[in-house]
Amino acid sequence: MGRKLERNSGLVSILASVFVFLAVLRVTNASASHEEEADRISALPGQPKVAFHQFSGYVTVSEAAGRALFYWLTEAVQPSSKPLVVWLNGGPGCSSVAYGASEEIGPFRINKEASGLYLNKYSWNKFANLLFLETPAGVGFSYSNTSSDLLDTGDRRTAKDSLEFLVRWMDRFPRYKNHRIYLTGESYAGHYVPQLAREIVHYNTKTKNKINLKGFMVGNAVTDNHYDNLGTVNYWWSHAMISDKTYHQLMNTCDFRRQKESNQCESVYYYAMDQEFGSIDQYNIYAPPCNKSDATTGPTRRNMHLPHRPHSIFKKLRGYDPCTEQYAEIYYNRPDVQKALHANGTGRIPYKWTACSETLNRHWNDTANSILPIYRELIASGLRIWVGDVDSVVPVTATRFSLAQLKLDTTLPWYPWYVDKQVGGWSEVYKGLTFATVRGAGHEVPLFKPKAALQLLRSFIRGEPLPKS
Ligand SMILES: *[C@@H]1O[C@H](CO)[C@@H](O)[C@H](O)[C@H]1NC(C)=O
Ligand SMILES: *[C@@H]1O[C@H](CO)[C@@H](O)[C@H](O)[C@H]1NC(C)=O
Ligand SMILES: *[C@@H]1O[C@H](CO)[C@@H](O)[C@H](O)[C@H]1NC(C)=O
Ligand SMILES: *[C@@H]1O[C@H](CO)[C@@H](O)[C@H](O)[C@H]1NC(C)=O
Repeated sequence: MGRKLERNSGLVSILASVFVFLAVLRVTNASASHEEEADRISALPGQPKVAFHQFSGYVTVSEAAGRALFYWLTEAVQPSSKPLVVWLNGGPGCSSVAYGASEEIGPFRINKEASGLYLNKYSWNKFANLLFLETPAGVGFSYSNTSSDLLDTGDRRTAKDSLEFLVRWMDRFPRYKNHRIYLTGESYAGHYVPQLAREIVHYNTKTKNKINLKGFMVGNAVTDNHYDNLGTVNYWWSHAMISDKTYHQLMNTCDFRRQKESNQCESVYYYAMDQEFGSIDQYNIYAPPCNKSDATTGPTRRNMHLPHRPHSIFKKLRGYDPCTEQYAEIYYNRPDVQKALHANGTGRIPYKWTACSETLNRHWNDTANSILPIYRELIASGLRIWVGDVDSVVPVTATRFSLAQLKLDTTLPWYPWYVDKQVGGWSEVYKGLTFATVRGAGHEVPLFKPKAALQLLRSFIRGEPLPKS
């Protein structure tokens, strides 16, 4: 079928290297490097017995500044036959250990008492080895000995440090060098993931020691200031969250291309939030908000802002389950947990582990206005976009407005895709890019729709369209 060929044409390098991959496996399979052994996790406190292996620790990305990034690898049961999936959360400033690993795609969930872990039935490590990276320095356990680094990091340094991390991590885990690698993430990682992919592609042109990147997948991704904001305001209006009057005022007073909106525009935003939204969860507008008393008061993504939105938009809102973040903040601050994870070695990090760093978020130095030019550049790398459709923070309309700018040819027209004989969402395949929604999912797709999200991963790494029945 034409569409199959079309899709594969962007993946030619992938098919060619599969053979290399198989041949090398036999040699490297059994040998674990000495260095990686030091990072092996024997067991986390309160962890159920599992059949897969885990590693975690630090990789220095700048000797001069003393910056080191923290990672946590949860392998598949048969790691050698599965690809490596790198997962990044957004914020900016939020931790992949807090969100991706502990409430979305990772194998463990933290119990209410933060006394232990239980298994996630739909963990992505069924199909892939999962590498959770806390980036940039200042996020979670990742740190810098140069404290000013927390005040001037932005998109640029995040991309460069993350590349440096991957290159050095591969030296520590040489058995992964020939694995297929996919980058995934959500929200503000809509910047990190394509930017890191571009760094890798450029790096690969200059080295023999290539990183075997095969594609990337982003969910509810911050993509383009103008079209994201336009799409968001339209989502609010079309989901009856704001009045016609507020909608028109936003459209007339805001210049969605700007990083910093005018006071007039911001005051319309505040009116919408304070007077019209009500106490809903913007990250999943149909979910019941959590009780105030249960909610955490520390910095979480709930009270963080995306750089192109007015600051305090998220301040007054309560999350779907802020309590989940609270369990994480108790669990990962336990000294026995940190010891088991090889994190915060000599207690040198002078502040607590938090799900999101408000310091980084507030001082974010540079942010791209649009990621679309990177999409254009990398469209051949097997990109797939995934979007949950009841999120009002980075909603499906934002992604559709942004992607429409790419003017891609359709290879598989719009269709409903299925999981468990139910419509899981809708998908359309373009030349070099797949768009898919997850019906009824909030901002963190794998949290709200874990089974559908696992199907996305499976189709994505197989390079197949989502199932039609
Ligand atoms: C940061 O400083 C501590 C204490 O001097 C040192 O042990 C550690 O190796 C430094 N970290 C990096 C990444 O250089
Ligand atoms: C909020 O707290 C009240 C009183 O403790 C309880 O009855 C109710 O179920 C709680 N609501 C939610 C959404 O947890
Ligand atoms: C690192 O350890 C010190 C000493 O135990 C503790 O005070 C600090 O909160 C920890 N920081 C992080 C990020 O875990
Ligand atoms: C901060 O942003 C400016 C302007 O975008 C850029 O030139 C500079 O390199 C950035 N600083 C760092 C430390 O990345």
